[in-house]
Amino acid sequence: MSEPRTLAPPERRVAVVSGVERLGAYHLVTAHDASGPREPQPGQFYMLATEECWGGGDGERPYLPRAFSYARAHVEPDGVSLGFLLEIVGPGTERLATLAPDGGLALVGPLGIGFRPPPEGARPVLVGGGIGVAPLLCLQEELDDPTVLLGFRSAAHAQAAALFSGDPNVVTDDGSVGRQALVTELLAAELDADADAEAAVFACGPPAMLEAVRALCAGRGVPAQLALESGMACGFGACFGCVVPTTDGYLRLCVDGPVLDGDRLESALFAGAGH
Ligand SMILES: Cc1cc2nc3c(=O)[nH]c(=O)nc-3n(C[C@H](O)[C@H](O)[C@H](O)COP(=O)(O)OP(=O)(O)OC[C@H]3O[C@@H](n4cnc5c(N)ncnc54)[C@H](O)[C@@H]3O)c2cc1C
Ligand code: FES
Repeated sequence: MSEPRTLAPPERRVAVVSGVERLGAYHLVTAHDASGPREPQPGQFYMLATEECWGGGDGERPYLPRAFSYARAHVEPDGVSLGFLLEIVGPGTERLATLAPDGGLALVGPLGIGFRPPPEGARPVLVGGGIGVAPLLCLQEELDDPTVLLGFRSAAHAQAAALFSGDPNVVTDDGSVGRQALVTELLAAELDADADAEAAVFACGPPAMLEAVRALCAGRGVPAQLALESGMACGFGACFGCVVPTTDGYLRLCVDGPVLDGDRLESALFAGAGH
């Protein structure tokens, strides 16, 4: 790797929940982290669990903490306020979404390697699909007026677009918000419309979308940084459960990613993957 791994000590601490907001199909959990690092990098993630009722007991699952990109991080005098955007897909996200103000959010992080700045002079293009928009929210705040392209399943999911500043270009699978189109169609049009201006693409979304972004950018010689997902049991390099094949061999996504350059990936990585 050209950049150092950012290995936060895998110490579990408890942040205090300040709010849980329903946003259409998603939940935005905000918590005050008094003692963790104050400047996570967009694309990094935290392993989350609720302080209580997580593992053991009647329901048992969830047991292991779950990985979540942070969507927002605002420094406060006595810590940092972290925001996580969740889609309920199983017992972990279901439990996290039941947190209430003053509840305890157990976390480890920030973990992994996030997005790197775009090359000097390149215009950043952010491409998000579904819950994959989460790490692009904090990335937008750090970049100078990036183009933001977002794709969602339906109007309920597209409510997350309101979290972005400016005027993101939104499409949906069912045409209920914006055009009925795939976000990769927007990306192709964007890259082709201004082919002379050097672009740098930053993407997060479902595997099929990331593969389409990778292929589109590879075909046009545009650098793409892709935030990937894989099942993560520990989040800090111990279990080898998150390995992905790359052109450099197998990498642990939790310490060498989750953001990887598109040209280090082959389409085989995405074959059969899905959420
Ligand atoms: C680096 C990283 C960042 C993430 N950021 C977010 C985020 O910001 N918001 C968010 O809502 N989720 C995010 N996720 C995904 C989240 O960690 C998983 O969906 C998690 O497993 C949910 O836990 P659960 O108990 O609710 O569901 P589970 O019971 O763990 O999973 C429900 C279903 O999803 C499948 N599944 C679980 N994890 C994955 C995966 N990684 N890839 C493909 N299929 C999977 C399972 O096989 C199962 O069918 C992130 C994952 C990673 C690795
Ligand atoms: S999640 Fe355990 S090594 Fe990556």
